[in-house]
Amino acid sequence: MNPVIETILNHRSIRKFKDQPLSKEQIELIVKSAQAASTSSYIQAYSIIGVSDPAKKQALSEVAGNQAYVANNGHFFVFCADLHRHQKIGEYEGRNVMPSIESTEKFMVTLIDAALAAQNAAVAAESMGLGLCYIGGIRNNLEKVAEILKTPDHVIPLFGLAVGFPDTQTDQKPRLPLEHVYHENEYQQDEALYKKQIEEYDQLIQAYYIKRTSGKRDDTWSTQMCEMLEKQSRMYMKEFVQKKGLNLK
Ligand SMILES: Cc1cc2nc3c(=O)[nH]c(=O)nc-3n(C[C@H](O)[C@H](O)[C@H](O)COP(=O)(O)O)c2cc1C
Repeated sequence: MNPVIETILNHRSIRKFKDQPLSKEQIELIVKSAQAASTSSYIQAYSIIGVSDPAKKQALSEVAGNQAYVANNGHFFVFCADLHRHQKIGEYEGRNVMPSIESTEKFMVTLIDAALAAQNAAVAAESMGLGLCYIGGIRNNLEKVAEILKTPDHVIPLFGLAVGFPDTQTDQKPRLPLEHVYHENEYQQDEALYKKQIEEYDQLIQAYYIKRTSGKRDDTWSTQMCEMLEKQSRMYMKEFVQKKGLNLK
């Protein structure tokens, strides 16, 4: 055990923050930490937009289904997949980079890069005693988000990260069994064991919800997932991404 692992293992999302902005130093340390993440072929295919303007935060909160903590936090970061600068570099250097920029592979690279940067930012923020919550809700309407943040083509806002001084204590949510997530040498082949691991986890989660909500909630992880996955969501995404010039080839 060491302080980094302790910070990581202590993670839980925080959805209520004190009315106190992050300092410039805190913001810079968080962004520098994000930038220190590994990046595919040194491509650095992401941007981070820090939102402090209360009107913009409010507008983003509305896009995210009126999640109050999108507006009320110490700072709101939006992580974007970004191949705009690479398109520009191609232009400046007079090189034919567009077929590659428009490929599914490079789109995946931007997503991976942005996620790695974001999680580095998250760990850095939590190590400073700050709390946070990722916000995928901004993808409810990316046209609107692009308009608010004035993002150009080849940039896709992916998710927000609300960061601030915690104003609440929350429980940690138990994760899937390690043996279910970590496979050795090949993907787990034992179907009976696979099912048993999920059933045991379902029992654990059901007990967790019953305890946490004094019996008001007793669903399992499997029912929660199926209820979510039975409904399709944000089906405009492919069209939006392609309109922005990504994932075309
Ligand atoms: C990309 C991403 C998007 C998320 N979007 C939201 C969101 O819009 N609203 C929210 O309240 N939580 C959001 N979350 C937080 C998850 O619900 C949370 O991480 C998960 O339930 C596990 O809980 P924990 O973070 O407390 O361990 C998001 C998490 C991730 C990674």
